[in-house]
Amino acid sequence: MTPTLTTPPAFPRAVRIAGTGAYAPERALTNRDLEKIVNTTDEWIVTRTGMRERRIAAPEQATSDLGSEAALRALADAGVAPEEVQLLLVATITPDYPFPNTGCLVQRRIGAKNAFCMSIEAACSGFVYGLETARHYIAGGAVDTALVIGAEKMSSILDWRDRSTCVLFGDGAGAAVLKPARRGRGIIASVLGSDGALSELLYVPAGGSRKPASAETVAAGEHFLRMNGREVFKHAVTNMVRAARTALHRAGLTPADVRWIIPHQANLRIIGAIAERLEIPEERFVINVARYGNTSGASVGLALDEAARDGRLRDGDIVMMLVFGGGFTWGATLIEWEKTS
Ligand code: UT7
Repeated sequence: MTPTLTTPPAFPRAVRIAGTGAYAPERALTNRDLEKIVNTTDEWIVTRTGMRERRIAAPEQATSDLGSEAALRALADAGVAPEEVQLLLVATITPDYPFPNTGCLVQRRIGAKNAFCMSIEAACSGFVYGLETARHYIAGGAVDTALVIGAEKMSSILDWRDRSTCVLFGDGAGAAVLKPARRGRGIIASVLGSDGALSELLYVPAGGSRKPASAETVAAGEHFLRMNGREVFKHAVTNMVRAARTALHRAGLTPADVRWIIPHQANLRIIGAIAERLEIPEERFVINVARYGNTSGASVGLALDEAARDGRLRDGDIVMMLVFGGGFTWGATLIEWEKTS
């Protein structure tokens, strides 16, 4: 299937990532811990997913709390005050409330009082969808400073009796401040796509308007995430590889030009399959799935911040973010890294 949204090559104003931040809750849940909860083994989880532990938020922490921490760290990194933010976007599928949007709750908490705020619901692709949305606002001149946050409390929608899903996900948040580029090209090309035909392969059946929460839906565990992992796996690989190739083609680049790939952290085997098909060595992928599991909309932001802070990303590097998630949704964004002022 061809991507439904691609970025025109010539953009009025180039946009860069001026700062990043991340937050992961303190409590780590290891595979050994999970062995005590469901019928699983450390060996199964490691060989099938590459995961060793994931972070779990405290009961009193909601998604906006995780997102606010990451946001404050990204603002500090960019040297931007909360009041300077004009657009605040939170990508999440685990909002604090059905409404108001989690963006408004982060706004209140961090004091971004001059921003307009919204949420993006694109599951694991949310961070890249958020970056691309914010980029258009800046490129078109509507705003100069945007804050994009991917934040999830996945533990709040997991069925801790279902070993096929509860071992896979974790909580966390990643954030990026976007500003006009100074010298470089900033975001070079993006490809976003969706396919709603297969929505029920990865979803939460109840709690929305189709099946409002009731004693029956709760008893049946329908307010928890459900996934057909094997099917999702195939679509994830196919669509991420295709999105990467399309983005590279649009940018006039080849896989050899990409210094770092920051993929959604759903499964080490998915990352391996993508590396093989794109013929990019796995060493050039930023991978932290062993420590955080799949944090859905937070995963790329968490990995991006890690690579930026530990010095892997250098100015001038071509970096590709690559995502796939429920919906289905997918995307690839190529950026020329330009952070230092
Ligand atoms: O983030 C959004 C996108 N999400 C993804 O991209 C996830 C994509 N899917 C995956 O990563 C993989 O499909 C999983 C990790 C979810 C599952 O791995 P798999 O190799 O596809 O396993 P499977 O679902 O085919 O299950 C194989 C076996 C089954 O047993 P039988 O039927 O072969 O006897 C499962 O019941 O593994 C069993 N199993 C487990 N065993 C121990 C499933 N979960 C577990 C578990 N521990 N936690």
